[in-house]
Amino acid sequence: MDNNRERLLKIENLKKHFKIDRNTVLKAVDGISFDIYKGETFGLVGESGCGKSTAGRTILRLHEATEGEVYFADENVHTKKSAKQLKKFNRSMQMIFQDPYASLNPRMTVKDIIAEGIDIHGLAKNKQDRLNRINSLLETVGLNRDHGNRYPHEFSGGQRQRIGIARALAVDPDFIVADEPISALDVSIQAQVVNLLKRLQKERGLTFLFIAHDLSMVKHISDRVGVMYLGNMAEIAASDDLYAEPLHPYTQALLSAIPIADPKVERSRDRIIVEGDVPSPVDPPSGCRFRTRCPFAMDVCAKVDPVFQKYKKDHWVACHLYDEDYNEDYKVIQ
Ligand SMILES: Nc1ncnc2c1ncn2[C@@H]1O[C@H](COP(=O)(O)OP(=O)(O)OP(=O)(O)O)[C@@H](O)[C@H]1O
Ligand SMILES: [Mg+2]
Repeated sequence: MDNNRERLLKIENLKKHFKIDRNTVLKAVDGISFDIYKGETFGLVGESGCGKSTAGRTILRLHEATEGEVYFADENVHTKKSAKQLKKFNRSMQMIFQDPYASLNPRMTVKDIIAEGIDIHGLAKNKQDRLNRINSLLETVGLNRDHGNRYPHEFSGGQRQRIGIARALAVDPDFIVADEPISALDVSIQAQVVNLLKRLQKERGLTFLFIAHDLSMVKHISDRVGVMYLGNMAEIAASDDLYAEPLHPYTQALLSAIPIADPKVERSRDRIIVEGDVPSPVDPPSGCRFRTRCPFAMDVCAKVDPVFQKYKKDHWVACHLYDEDYNEDYKVIQ
């Protein structure tokens, strides 16, 4: 998209369909395309079930893609690779999970949990080196050496998430998918974990795909944000731009749901309320998937799937309101 930024990942028309039974296919991710630049945090938001986790997992190849491509540093991740190449990818790309209770094996010591990747990839020269690496990782995430000999249940949610982060860092990855890493934590702890992730990003030049339910959570951490709806990408923009000028009615609705502290602004703003539930990804609406809940839906929206197009620098949207062919009132700014 931009010349002065280095692209780390390119996701092209990625699809992940789950076969539920003989006649039913659930289109969890249904053709999303976007780039992730080196060193940035790309926030991915959308309501529950819109396909965020599936997208994150498919990018890491924890799911096989149904269609589409993922390029990591210009290498195709999804073409069949040798075991050695796959191991290299696995090392470069790590995941931090939402639930710090379920994602840590309760029968393993923290030391062994953190060292999983070190062991798999044979990174430690000897026992002492292994221990040194574990201790250094514990310190990096704000825990101490003694914690290594304990078990996950002895820790609070925030501490467990730190353990999960240390585990991901152990193999020195370039790219981390953080799937709602703070959603399960107390509000008071959330900022601490976000600050830790930010510091680590700076120190280690990490690139993040940061998944969250609502826009308020990703606002401060993301450089750019992508908004998903029912397996599709509705809008992508630089974080500030998305909040200042949301284009897609769905993004506008998500932002409307965030309370504004200033009561004057709160009273004066236009709220966009969407009604009804998200339709089923087994049988999504024709044309634009959001049209059944969109307050601005036009006739064309049921017939033609809107193209994901550039509206202005760094701001992309899939909506017929920004399509000159269908909405005369609107001028697309290139
Ligand atoms: N392994 C699976 N088999 C079948 N269906 C699945 C599977 N994983 C996810 N789904 C379905 O795919 C859709 C997208 O799910 P996904 O977990 O990716 O959404 P999400 O945006 O991460 O939601 P949440 O915010 O609740 O975490 C949902 O309808 C879900 O039920
Ligand atoms: Mg999820």
